[in-house]
Amino acid sequence: MIPDYIYDIPSLMSKSDLESIFELATTLPEDSNILEIGCFLGSTTCTLKEALPNSILHCVDIWQDEKHSKYLLGKDRHFVNEEITSNKYTWHQNTKHLQNIFTYQTSSLQYQSDTKFDLIFLDGNHQYENVISELVKFKKYLKPNGILAGHDYGFEPTSKAIIKFANNNNLAVWTKNDNVWYYKPYMETPQ
Ligand SMILES: C[S@@+](CC[C@H](N)C(=O)[O-])C[C@H]1O[C@@H](n2cnc3c(N)ncnc32)[C@H](O)[C@@H]1O
Repeated sequence: MIPDYIYDIPSLMSKSDLESIFELATTLPEDSNILEIGCFLGSTTCTLKEALPNSILHCVDIWQDEKHSKYLLGKDRHFVNEEITSNKYTWHQNTKHLQNIFTYQTSSLQYQSDTKFDLIFLDGNHQYENVISELVKFKKYLKPNGILAGHDYGFEPTSKAIIKFANNNNLAVWTKNDNVWYYKPYMETPQ
């Protein structure tokens, strides 16, 4: 179960989104390597770590005081007012009780690692070209059977990029009743 403190972290994730992330993470091996792109103030980070306490989590964000504004209101998300900005100091306040977390203050396309991941969760820059570039890049960072997933399915242009990449790579997009998505290999139904 998701501990209550996570719901108090200002976030762009709905309760259902966080539950879907928690559920997805619990399907993975306990000692998984996880990569999170776009950590904001830590609600997804904490959810992943609470689901898999023995995992190793790489957290990548530019943490450049990105402001999240009113367009998110009314979407079953926490109220994130315009004064709340994305910075590493606030993220650290929310996540410093967690172990085996490595932070990289850089853009997703600059980040490099030799680690292969069981789960990569994308929630950074949602512009079409950036999402496509991240999908192409990070598919290569997965272990065999690793899961590529993210947030903001149902919002454009993110959905368009996710579907385009799926079609080009024989993948099916899975979602629950929220904005979290993940890929599974697409399989034809036997005739
Ligand atoms: C939608 S928020 C992430 C919300 C987060 N998952 C949560 O739990 O609340 C997007 C985050 O992506 C970061 N970001 C924006 N562009 C980025 C990039 N090119 N690379 C990495 N992070 C980026 C922003 O600083 C911001 O913190």
